[in-house]
Amino acid sequence: MADALITSTIKVALEKTLALANERIGKLFQFKKDLETLRGSVAMIQAVLADAEEKQTHDQAVQLWLQRLEAVAFDAENLLDELNYEALHRQLVGKVRSFILSSDINIVFRWRMASKISDINKKLNKINKEANDFGLIRFQRATFPPSTTAKVTLNRETDSIAGHYVVGRAKDETRLVEILLSLSENAVSVIPILGMGGLGKTTLAQSVYNNSQVDSHFEKKIWVCVSDNFEVTRLLKMILESLTRRNVEITSRDVIVQEIRQQLVGKKYLLVLDDVWTESQILWDDFLRLLRGLNATNGNWCVVTTRKQQTASIVATHDPYVLGKLSDDDCWFILTEKANAGGEIPEKLQVMKKEIIKKCGGLPLAASAMGGLLRMKGKEESELILMNKLSNLSGDEDSVMKILKLSFNCLPSPAVKKCFAYCSMFPKDTEMKRDMLIELWMAEGFLQVDLKNKTMRKLESITWKFYCRVLCWKK
Ligand SMILES: Nc1ncnc2c1ncn2[C@@H]1O[C@H](COP(=O)(O)OP(=O)(O)OP(=O)(O)O)[C@@H](O)[C@H]1O
Ligand SMILES: [Mg+2]
Repeated sequence: MADALITSTIKVALEKTLALANERIGKLFQFKKDLETLRGSVAMIQAVLADAEEKQTHDQAVQLWLQRLEAVAFDAENLLDELNYEALHRQLVGKVRSFILSSDINIVFRWRMASKISDINKKLNKINKEANDFGLIRFQRATFPPSTTAKVTLNRETDSIAGHYVVGRAKDETRLVEILLSLSENAVSVIPILGMGGLGKTTLAQSVYNNSQVDSHFEKKIWVCVSDNFEVTRLLKMILESLTRRNVEITSRDVIVQEIRQQLVGKKYLLVLDDVWTESQILWDDFLRLLRGLNATNGNWCVVTTRKQQTASIVATHDPYVLGKLSDDDCWFILTEKANAGGEIPEKLQVMKKEIIKKCGGLPLAASAMGGLLRMKGKEESELILMNKLSNLSGDEDSVMKILKLSFNCLPSPAVKKCFAYCSMFPKDTEMKRDMLIELWMAEGFLQVDLKNKTMRKLESITWKFYCRVLCWKK
């Protein structure tokens, strides 16, 4: 995914550079000619980016070229930002004329900026030459999305995230609930749900967690997303946070354990540890010892979801629940639901049903990602994508990555890609309020809305749609 990210980062930086390299700046600082050269080079580079994006996966030279370009694009953007800031500042204090003509400091400033522009122009020129040497193909500017900033159509007022549905796991849920509700002499029993990435372990664990019988059987329920950091004090802190629904600042392990004990005294609990990777017997034993000492009640359960056989064997006190693949019909349901949002299934897709299902390999994540991709590309392009770009999928984890990567590449603009990629900076399963995320995107400059011409309500509606588009991958 990193390779797809770099091109979107570059595209956004270059678009911003073009927007900032305006005539006003050219005139004000007498850089008209340099800025024209810069704009020309940037336009030439933009024309080869689509081809570079394709080629980078198998051509290391193109990868390195993109890295060099990224650095220059950032320099250019920063420089023009500085010039714009300076111009604005001067306008505000009403010194534009004297700034250009008299002050020594401004001569120094101008000289410094001129030498920076000249340096950037030289680098862009070199990068353009290299693009020719690599044989990168130039596409018409019109084939790019019209702008990197958020162009959100305002024709629909009620965009929403697709509702969550779980298919084909009723038997698994029933079986797991039976196990959790069975009589147990143990203080804490541990059952792993084992299966490859994207098979639906977390989804199943969620269904079990929210099951009504489970609700009435356990007096306390705790959900912790572990990921690859199995640090015991961190886990205890997260358990306490889940129990109290507030931030825990305490750092002393003993104090945290004490507080958890108070929460759980005399109460049967279910603890879900989602996405566990540890293979350390020592860490696990340490954690389990603490769990056992939390209360005197028997029949507590801990459900662990994991991809790793080794982890499952370390943690299990009960046979691991090995999750199976989804049936063809269930995969088809997920895919078409995502591709068509409940609408009629296009004939073209229907004809290719067998082949498409094979590519999903029983993985709900593959079905869901493929559905999202087909929805994004529309009916016409769907067939082409399935026949060409996704022709050799074999329904394994690698296939999922390929589908996800292609989906990312197909997001409608670099700005949308950046918003999406930005979310990857946060730890897995971070919960964040929508408005907070939108504010962060705005602060990063991904979401540029003309504030002067938009009323607040309209602005909210635009940003909401943008959010839906990024997180639901909608067109
Ligand atoms: N039974 C299902 N019905 C519908 N969608 C499902 C089902 N199972 C999983 N999905 C969807 O597939 C995607 C992957 O599921 P999930 O996160 O549960 O997989 P996982 O096995 O926990 O993966 P990982 O190992 O990466 O944690 C999610 O988008 C989820 O909504
Ligand atoms: Mg998971």
